[in-house]
Amino acid sequence: MPRPKVFATHSLFDAARQILQESCEVEYWAKPGRPPREEVLRRVKDKEGLICLLTEKVNEELLSVAPKLLIAANVAVGFDNIDVAACTKRGVAATNTPGVLDETTADFAWTLMMAVARRLSEGEALARSGNWKNWDLDQLVGTDVWGKTLGIVGFGRIGRAVARRASGFQMKVIYTDAVRAPEEVEKELKAEFLDMNTLLGESDFISVHVPLLRETRGLFDAAKFARMKPTAFLINTSRGPVVNEAALVAALEAKMHRGGKCGGAFRGETSAEHFESRSSEGHVTSTRANLSCSN
Ligand SMILES: NC(=O)c1ccc[n+]([C@@H]2O[C@H](COP(=O)([O-])OP(=O)(O)OC[C@H]3O[C@@H](n4cnc5c(N)ncnc54)[C@H](O)[C@@H]3O)[C@@H](O)[C@H]2O)c1
Repeated sequence: MPRPKVFATHSLFDAARQILQESCEVEYWAKPGRPPREEVLRRVKDKEGLICLLTEKVNEELLSVAPKLLIAANVAVGFDNIDVAACTKRGVAATNTPGVLDETTADFAWTLMMAVARRLSEGEALARSGNWKNWDLDQLVGTDVWGKTLGIVGFGRIGRAVARRASGFQMKVIYTDAVRAPEEVEKELKAEFLDMNTLLGESDFISVHVPLLRETRGLFDAAKFARMKPTAFLINTSRGPVVNEAALVAALEAKMHRGGKCGGAFRGETSAEHFESRSSEGHVTSTRANLSCSN
């Protein structure tokens, strides 16, 4: 019996390759960077299986050129790149990898939180610049994480893993979600359920863990930024488009003009480019050191 043909848009890790080679004939994208769209569409044409990353859109366009496709296996927790309805219509199974990065992403959200609060990037940049001369009492004074209020938006697997870490910092944990967590979870994590607006007004740190859906695209807009404390930090390790970047930049700039300090952690290349261009205009230069990007 011929082995099913699969296109993997990444070379994957050895363990996965070994499993696949036992039963499939796999063609890997082995060049650096992501494959161009035309390349994905060309290679998937005669395949029964597609192993893709969140950078590949599995939509009507792709499905229509791959009549033999039986499965689109997404190597990602979020599946906002997959048109599930279109897959269902064509009888193509769509799978993802929930749970594999709960603790990793929670660690990383905490990494960003600590970094922006303690101005780690600025300190490192100063040390590397060669301009650091001496210690001083008020040099790069950051802010404490300890004892503050952590607001979690999206209290699923990752949001709860973030909350679990907060007890060591004696933080107050509040959360909002489309669905309230069971009482025993709230008790265990000492987390209080609040509506979004109350959470925005009370949080010192806001960590975002909702999936990217139609309802959550641009969730953090001008109105949300206006409700946050002027000293609040926003950490987004969900998906970039959950935050409206233009509104974010406007909020940061407005704050700068009032003489405030800004901090934030953003995800994705767009943010980096956005802030690069803005900083060259001298608007948010002093905030850039507080920015962190994840992939
Ligand atoms: N940065 C990374 O490397 C990385 C890694 C893994 C996952 N993620 C992202 O994190 C997201 C969350 O992952 P998870 O495993 O915790 O998912 P999950 O499904 O366990 O939790 C998501 C939570 O968001 C809530 N939610 C959904 N829509 C909402 C809305 N409109 N308003 C408020 N709450 C809403 C859900 O009820 C759920 O509790 C993923 O969808 C993915 O985009 C990022």
